[in-house]
Order: sequence, then structure tokens, then C-alpha cells
Amino acid sequence: MIRLEELAKFIPPYQKIADIGCDHGLLIKKAFSYGITFAQAIDNKEGPLEAAKKNLGGFCDAVEFSLSDGLSNLSNKVEVIILAGLGADLAIKILDQSKEKLKLIKRMIIQVNKNPDKIREYSKNIAFKIVSEKIIFERKHFYEIIVFEPGERDLRPEEILFGPCLLQKKDTLFIQKWKEEYLKIKDWHQKKNIQKKEFIENYVLKGEKNAN
Ligand SMILES: C[S@@+](CC[C@H](N)C(=O)[O-])C[C@H]1O[C@@H](n2cnc3c(N)ncnc32)[C@H](O)[C@@H]1O
Repeated sequence: MIRLEELAKFIPPYQKIADIGCDHGLLIKKAFSYGITFAQAIDNKEGPLEAAKKNLGGFCDAVEFSLSDGLSNLSNKVEVIILAGLGADLAIKILDQSKEKLKLIKRMIIQVNKNPDKIREYSKNIAFKIVSEKIIFERKHFYEIIVFEPGERDLRPEEILFGPCLLQKKDTLFIQKWKEEYLKIKDWHQKKNIQKKEFIENYVLKGEKNAN
């Protein structure tokens, strides 16, 4: 469970979290080994919340379980919200529905299953800036974890696609991910793919060629 571990690592120094779409509750379980003292486990379906209650049985005093939609019932104790394993559109909808609640939040840790660029693009609407990013690979999938804190940061189009911190670092997984994405582009003439192709060639493949 590299993904859950890597998500939990971004919680400190904060100690009070909410996991939106907590499902099995395993991220919260992991978060206890990173020093949290309070967690709100939020899910809008009974089945997942029941599974979370079972998995978090040993931490009952420190966990509040909420059967609710997105951030609608967010506790005002919460410092860090985590949205992981959701679709980008759903994550954006959840944030957009509760902009007021975000004003109390010190950090957001977001990992969507596809199109993390949509989250980066959206973040300017809620005045959150990217402070850290990490790319991970688990069970044949690349995942991008994006950490936001209140503030402003202008992002260039290529930073929205690749992630400003990931682009700066260009680690091995990053290069691997974008080489694979490049091979997956089938329709080279579609407008969104023209720019993507150009960016991958300029920011990923060109550097590779120079390095060889
Ligand atoms: C794919 S699971 C992700 C589980 C976990 N966060 C992870 O990263 O492994 C998505 C969970 O989000 C819940 N969910 C979907 N829409 C939601 C919403 N609007 N509010 C709260 N939970 C939601 C689903 O019921 C499901 O348990």
C-alpha cells in the first residue's frame, strides 16, 4: 500500500484530518502512525463507512464517522482534508460545493485517479497553491499526489499538465509515466493531444535525448 503510506506522509506537522470518500478507512489507520490525534471519516455510502468502522475499531475515540456528501458536514476541528482515489471531476465538485469550508483548511492532499491537471487548473479558483507533489507507481498505475496550502501561485500550461514540482524534479517515475503517456496518444491531431505531445517532446523526451 505505497499509495496510502505516501499520502499519510504528507499530513505532519498537522494532526487533525478528514478523509473524504474514506471507503475502507485504511488511509486513516495509516495516518495514526504519522501522529494524528483526530480524524473524520467521511463517506456518502453506508457500506464503505461500515467497513471503515470495522477497520478503525481500535481508534474509536479519535475518529468521527460521517455519512455525508463531500465536505457538507466537515468538522471545524479539521486542519487537513484528503481526497484520494476519486475522479478529478468528483473531487472538483466536492471542493466547489463547499468553498466557504475551505477557508479553515491548512492543507489539502489530493490524489485523483486520472487527469490531475484538472485539479491543478481548478486550484486557482479556491486560492490554494501547490506546495509539494509526488509521483508513485503501484499495481501498474502511476498516481500523482498533490499537496495544496492556502495561497496563490501562477502555473504555466506545462506546469498544469506535469505538475510544477514534478516537472522541476523530473525523477525516474515521472519520465517513465510520460513516456508511456506519449505512446498511448493515438489521435495526434486532436486539439488537446497536439499540445500534450508537444509538451512531452519538449519537456520530457528532449532532455532524455540530451542525456544519452
Ligand atoms: C474509490 S473509493 C476511494 C477510497 C479511498 N479514499 C482510497 O483512496 O483508497 C471512493 C469512495 O468515495 C466515496 N464517495 C463518492 N462520492 C462521495 C461524496 N460525494 N462524498 C463522500 N464520499 C463519496 C465512495 O462511496 C467510495 O467509498
